[in-house]
Amino acid sequence: MSVSSLPIVTLPSGEKVPQLGQGTWHMGEGGRRRGEEVAALKLGLDLGMTLIDTAELYADAELVVAEAIKGRRDECFIVTKVLPENSTHARTIAACERSLKRLSTDRIDLYLLHWRGRPRLEETLSAFKELMSAGSIRYWGVSNFDVGDMEELFALPGGDACAANQVLYNLRRRGIEAGLLPWCRARGVPIQAYSPIEQGRLLRDRVLTGVAIRHRATTAQIALAWVLRQPDMIVIPKAATLEHVRENRAALDIELTAQDLAELDRAFPPPRAPRPLELL
Ligand SMILES: NC(=O)c1ccc[n+]([C@@H]2O[C@H](COP(=O)([O-])OP(=O)(O)OC[C@H]3O[C@@H](n4cnc5c(N)ncnc54)[C@H](OP(=O)(O)O)[C@@H]3O)[C@@H](O)[C@H]2O)c1
Repeated sequence: MSVSSLPIVTLPSGEKVPQLGQGTWHMGEGGRRRGEEVAALKLGLDLGMTLIDTAELYADAELVVAEAIKGRRDECFIVTKVLPENSTHARTIAACERSLKRLSTDRIDLYLLHWRGRPRLEETLSAFKELMSAGSIRYWGVSNFDVGDMEELFALPGGDACAANQVLYNLRRRGIEAGLLPWCRARGVPIQAYSPIEQGRLLRDRVLTGVAIRHRATTAQIALAWVLRQPDMIVIPKAATLEHVRENRAALDIELTAQDLAELDRAFPPPRAPRPLELL
């Protein structure tokens, strides 16, 4: 896989992935924007953002991804997710087969349990192991798992092979800093930060805008630069226009100053104590 000149994050296996990837939630929801979505993902690949995150939940997003990666599968690191209601042993295997078909690929690089559901974790885990042995998935991980869920997972045989935990993290959602983030860091489990610009809700923030003006950047770029300054954090903004993709890639070139960080800390204070994981 080519990771171009992007900073990289090393997975527990030693494999390297680009720190900045691409999300796909709300892609594939209607024919009208489809061409633009495919073009945006392709441009992202050209710019080195070769980690693409999708899910069986996201309407036809897996089909959009299939179109975008056509002819360049080997460059890409594809992440998709099984829904909790499908996470029994048999249903996980079936869900994975459906995702492989929709993605038009013979393998998923990282397969995540989207959030905790009723089925026992042992069942999902045994399906993940079977899928790995069959070569259908290369790694497995979880999403929206708080410290208690991670402890339960790690207590299971092979549970510590978890390759990532994908969670909500941005300036307005800093809760993980007081618990989950250090827990994962101590055990070498990379965090994938989703909704890094809070689905666009951070764009009009006054303090972010002030910092952006100083850097001749956009507010979205400052929100991304703030998450990206942590070198072990994988960040997966979703962008469906070429302009947004270019901007997001350029956020990697922004270096926030001590003054910027102090202002952002005042406006978006870090948590003082552990709090339950938030999700979207
Ligand atoms: N595991 C989970 O439970 C979970 C939950 C939520 C999200 N996710 C994953 O994380 C990805 C990212 O999160 P998200 O989609 O929720 O939110 P996000 O990436 O924080 O925000 C996406 C929104 O921001 C806009 N945007 C992107 N770049 C921009 C820029 N440079 N300037 C202005 N606006 C910009 C996008 O507009 P355009 O589309 O018009 O470009 C879109 O409306 C998802 O797509 C999904 O893959 C996972």
